[in-house]
Parts: sequence; C-alpha cells; structure tokens
Amino acid sequence: MKNIRTFNHPFLQERLAVLRDKNTDTAHFRRALIECGELLSIEIARDLPTSEITVETPLEPATVAVMEYSVTVIAILRAALGLAEGLTRYLPDARIGHIGIYRDKETLKPVKYYCKMPSDLANGYMILADPMLATGGSLIAALDVLAALTSLANLRVATIVAAPEGIAAVHEKYPQIPIYTAAVDRELNDLGYILPGLGDAGDRQYGTY
Ligand code: PRP
Ligand code: URA
Repeated sequence: MKNIRTFNHPFLQERLAVLRDKNTDTAHFRRALIECGELLSIEIARDLPTSEITVETPLEPATVAVMEYSVTVIAILRAALGLAEGLTRYLPDARIGHIGIYRDKETLKPVKYYCKMPSDLANGYMILADPMLATGGSLIAALDVLAALTSLANLRVATIVAAPEGIAAVHEKYPQIPIYTAAVDRELNDLGYILPGLGDAGDRQYGTY
C-alpha cells in the first residue's frame, strides 16, 4: 500500500499490545496511548527539515541542528487527546488544534461539532492525529475541514490501528497524504469496528462504557 508507513519498533508494538488487551484498565490504556504518541512522533518527524545554528558549549562554539518549522498537531476528539499529548512530548512548542467529530452509531457517518485551529496553519507542518482509522469517515471529514483552510502538502496522519478499508477510502480522496501507523489490521466487522483492533478507543481511554 502506497503512502502508509507502518512503524514496527518493538517499543511501540509493546504499547500496542497493552492497548489491544481487553484486561488493560483505563489508567494503563491512557498511559500506553500517550507513550504510543511519543514513539510514533519520532518516526513521523524523522525527515522534518532542520537548520544549523551555533551555541556556545562551556568549551567552544558548536554547530547544532534545530527544527526549522513549527508543527501543529491536530487532535480529532475525543480519542486523539492522549495520542496528541504523546505526539507533542518532543515537540513542546507545537500548537494543538482540535476538531470534534464522532461517528453516528447507526449510519457510521461522521458528525462534526467543533473546530479550533491556529490562525496561521499554513506555516509549518501538520500532524493529524486519531488513534483509530476504521471506515475512514472521520479522518476524511477532518481532512476536508483542513483542506478548506490550507494546503495539505505538509500534513501527515498519525494513527495507531488502521483498517484496510479506511486506508483505501482516505487515499481515494487524498492519495498524497502519508499515514503513519503502528498496525494495519485485518478488516472491519458489521458494526464498523476494527478486527482484531482494540475496541472503542475513546471509551477505553475515558472509562465511558
Ligand atoms: C472513533 C475514533 C475515530 C473514529 C474512527 O471516534 O476515535 O475518530 O471512531 O472511525 P471511522 O474511521 O469509521 O470514522 P468515535 O466516533 O468513537 O468518537 P469519540 O472518540 O468521541 O468516542
Ligand atoms: N472507533 C474505535 O474506537 N474503534 C474501532 O474499532 C472503530 C472505530
């Protein structure tokens, strides 16, 4: 599959195992999701441009690399909140935008209810975060919102579990968008849940069963 980057690092896969386990409680689920964000951010930011500056060590000047552009992490509420916290662990200056979208339980269609973005989104890179990519409806709705505001050329998607159906749907409309994930799972069930998946990421993160 083109433009899908599966990050197989053992540290990330071990956190994913915690997320998948139905016996993981809310506190450990939340912790593991934040850590997944931290680990995934390292891969997502690997090729972001840097520039050289000079700092004074206690002994002499040293040429060092610093990030050249700002980053905006955009969290799709609710489930991306923990992921976004992890994604910004090594990007402390990142701005965080929020898009509120939930999936209608009957139709599985996305319902938008909130959007708050920094005004200068166009400056720098964007990481659009949602741990679950199932039908792709929520991610496409979020990309539609962002495409109306700015170019998506510097946008990457961060997800943890992606279904082949969702990847195909997103790339049918937005083929150029790179999707970084910890796993590509088998399929969706009749209720739109990812198999084997990890269940409902929002409910498991916040204990709202
Ligand atoms: C979940 C998840 C994604 C969406 C994925 O959100 O966080 O946003 O489902 O499904 P899709 O690819 O089929 O659109 P949910 O609707 O459970 O909302 P919540 O995070 O507010 O609980
Ligand atoms: N949203 C979730 O949280 N989990 C799924 O398996 C599908 C959509």
